[in-house]
Amino acid sequence: MISPSLEHALSSARHCAVLTGAGVSAESGVPTFRSAGGLWKNHNPQELATPEAFDADPALVWSWYSWRRRTVRDVNPNPGHYALAEAAALFPRLTLITQNVDDLHQRAGSSGVIELHGSIERCRCSVCDAPYHGDNAPPTDDVQYCRCGGAIRPGVVWFGESLPMAALDAAQQAAGECDLFLSVGTSAIVYPAAMLPMIARQAGAYTVEINTAPSALAHEMDECITGPSGVVLPVLLETLRRLRGSA
Ligand code: OAD
Repeated sequence: MISPSLEHALSSARHCAVLTGAGVSAESGVPTFRSAGGLWKNHNPQELATPEAFDADPALVWSWYSWRRRTVRDVNPNPGHYALAEAAALFPRLTLITQNVDDLHQRAGSSGVIELHGSIERCRCSVCDAPYHGDNAPPTDDVQYCRCGGAIRPGVVWFGESLPMAALDAAQQAAGECDLFLSVGTSAIVYPAAMLPMIARQAGAYTVEINTAPSALAHEMDECITGPSGVVLPVLLETLRRLRGSA
């Protein structure tokens, strides 16, 4: 599974950047968006994941995100999340960038995770941006309101919205500086996240895709490993331990 080129990259990389997508949480039981049974196969994103959808029917959007919040709270990180958390100690530097709005990387022990698309666990007022005080409470199906009267919205990036500037800047910088870039469990069709592997490749990093099926960018990568991230990432971690002398 591990090619000589990847072994070389694993043993010599000073900075590994990792971009994860919904596939990394699939083995935990969180639905992806576009694979079989994915959320966007059964739901129209225009009706659930745009500011216009929230304005038109806040109750529908809020209850759908409450359902997703319950799903995420009911599951646990899988071996792929844990392998990435442990790999951080084996590279001089590891930057973990995720498109996921679940907190499974953090629950597995990763710190400093760059959340490109926000977090399902951090709601805020849709009018004044004040943080929602009920984030830690059990998810409710009723729309919540801020003191200012504005409806509380999920703290995720919706279609048509900009990514958080600081997160995008940090992700682009890491992609441009790393010498090994792993793109894990993403269909690589949503921009600007999908630019990151290309930025890394153009800057000279060794780029590797880990996915159960080739993504839109598979042909642009130096190497693709086909398989579930919950299996492949632990193998990479074992190899890393062997190469970097940490049993
Ligand atoms: P997608 O659902 O588009 O893609 C998931 C990818 O994971 C696919 O390429 C699958 O082949 C792969 N996959 C599935 N199971 C896997 C496994 N066990 N191991 C490895 N790979 C697996 O999800 P994303 O690429 O994350 O944005 O989607 C990007 C963005 O589109 C999301 O962040 C979300 C969505 O609309 C917003 O909500 C803003």
